[in-house]
Amino acid sequence: MSKIDFFKTFIKDKDVASVIPTSLHCVKKVCENIDFTKDFTLVEYGPGDGVFTNYILGKMSAGSRLILIEANEDFAAHLKETITDPRVTVHNRLAGEVESVLNPEDVGNVDYVLSGIPFSFLKKDRKREVLQATKKILKGGGLFLAYQTSGHLKKPVMEVFGNYDTDFVALNIPPYFVYKVINNEVAKTGS
Ligand SMILES: C[S@@+](CC[C@H](N)C(=O)[O-])C[C@H]1O[C@@H](n2cnc3c(N)ncnc32)[C@H](O)[C@@H]1O
Repeated sequence: MSKIDFFKTFIKDKDVASVIPTSLHCVKKVCENIDFTKDFTLVEYGPGDGVFTNYILGKMSAGSRLILIEANEDFAAHLKETITDPRVTVHNRLAGEVESVLNPEDVGNVDYVLSGIPFSFLKKDRKREVLQATKKILKGGGLFLAYQTSGHLKKPVMEVFGNYDTDFVALNIPPYFVYKVINNEVAKTGS
């Protein structure tokens, strides 16, 4: 399956949550927060057909790594087939399971978590679980970057991370709120 129809995937799976991939304008806007001059480890939740992934892959250093976590089986299979770059790993799993997907040494050492998953579809407790798992895998000073259709994530993000910055990107269908959140806590080691 080298080609995938985003709209058909959306029809089959409501959790895809969007009828078309994110616009290049929005991808670039979100990725302005990534320092491509340095090696990094980036975990992406909900890569879909890989619009962010391919943009980041084209800019990141040889020593950087991308770990993709995609719940939809068809998208995950498509990513595995089309992205053969050794810097990338694809997991057909849920964002909330991120800790069990990572190598233990990566927990607390991730530079960026980029997320396109529809947090508004998750129940309050599940939302909190994903945010807490995200905080746990990020290094101190690491960034959580999320694009969402509304401002609903402000409260849970404040509860878990204690900070956020938002930007509004109108040039996208649908328009997105882009969240930039810093993990201000240094990970505990040896536990
Ligand atoms: C709005 S689409 C974004 C797709 C792509 N990143 C883009 O920007 O075009 C949301 C994506 O998140 C995936 N997804 C939804 N819930 C998820 C979850 N709990 N864990 C991982 N992926 C999830 C969907 O299958 C879909 O690929």
